Amino acid sequence: MSFTFLTSTLDERRQNNQFRRRHCIETIDQQLISVNNKQYVNFSSNDYLGLNNHQSINQALCDGAKQFGTSSCSSSLVTGYSYAHQALENEICQWQNKERCLLFSSGFAANLGTLQALKHAGTKLYLDKLSHASLIDGARLASVGNQNPVKRFKHNDPSHLNKLLQAERDNQLVVTESVFSMDGDCAPLTEIKQLSAKYNAMLYVDDAHGLGVLGQQGEGGASLCQSDITMGTFGKAIATQGAFIGCDKNLFDYLINFSREYIYSTAISPAVAWSTLTSIKLIQKEHWRREKVQELSQLFKSKLDSSITLLPNDSSIHAIVIGDEDKALSVSEKLKKEGFWVSAIRPPTVPKGTSRLRVTICQNHNARDIIRLAENINKAMV
Ligand SMILES: Cc1ncc(COP(=O)(O)O)c(C=O)c1O
Repeated sequence: MSFTFLTSTLDERRQNNQFRRRHCIETIDQQLISVNNKQYVNFSSNDYLGLNNHQSINQALCDGAKQFGTSSCSSSLVTGYSYAHQALENEICQWQNKERCLLFSSGFAANLGTLQALKHAGTKLYLDKLSHASLIDGARLASVGNQNPVKRFKHNDPSHLNKLLQAERDNQLVVTESVFSMDGDCAPLTEIKQLSAKYNAMLYVDDAHGLGVLGQQGEGGASLCQSDITMGTFGKAIATQGAFIGCDKNLFDYLINFSREYIYSTAISPAVAWSTLTSIKLIQKEHWRREKVQELSQLFKSKLDSSITLLPNDSSIHAIVIGDEDKALSVSEKLKKEGFWVSAIRPPTVPKGTSRLRVTICQNHNARDIIRLAENINKAMV
């Protein structure tokens, strides 16, 4: 019988407490969700600025659908590129201080489509050890048949990167994230940018978790360090869907001609592009949302027992490393019983022995729930 590996590998996952399954969210009201008829405060969402279901963004989605339709009905290079996409790209270029911008259907597709397009016999890629799966896959695709294997530098370690980069070499690309998705810590982007410039390398920053949250106008970590290439997702703080690559004109033209994910995929919905434009305008104006995230994050940290190890962070993401899968699952289950949804993140998403709770603090959480969550984590961890 063929495909017996399906059952055997799933069994192995179950035995290791690494089996994944989905939960259907029946209703959602701000950060309150209901699953199987029970209500929870959601501390696992990436809606950092509390913009999901915002009235103006919803209205823009409806207006966009009326003006341009719900679907772009073809790839951007055929007839899928509309005024809605163009207006969004122009806004992002100004916000990010980039010459050009192009839209992808997801952050995963943007990372894959950009890195893969940079595949060239001489290209050398340097990735942070904790890079997101989409960056790793993109880099792997970029290095197929390439004599230069992808190099990984120690997490957030510019001195290790310095040892790996080579002087007088062309086509070197350093890839990192502004805020790491499972740890919540920020990359030392200014140092990494300086190093990249010293070795004539380009810097690619995945700003999935920094965009909207970092900077006076939510411009993110990549913009603050003036990365050469920025990837930003719309599905997190921006609260819509899709992604962009911000870059110079030359790379833009190259991607439009060689990025397979861009060329051979339906352009994002014009209605979504229109609502994303509204969201980005709001994000730039409403700095109070970022201040609130900082304030609530400080409150959460201050209420945790000193015995609890929280990874150092400067974002909405708070990672409490527990260790084995079993314990992480059991703490997450205890929190569910008390009405808090906090997912246990386990290998292979994070390295073995570092299973954790990933708590995300969003602008529309309330102080009372945050204090109760911290108290319950303190109790559940003993
Ligand atoms: C760092 C990072 N990059 C890229 C992505 C992919 O973005 P998207 O969800 O838009 O595909 C994610 C999403 O989980 C992420 O955390």
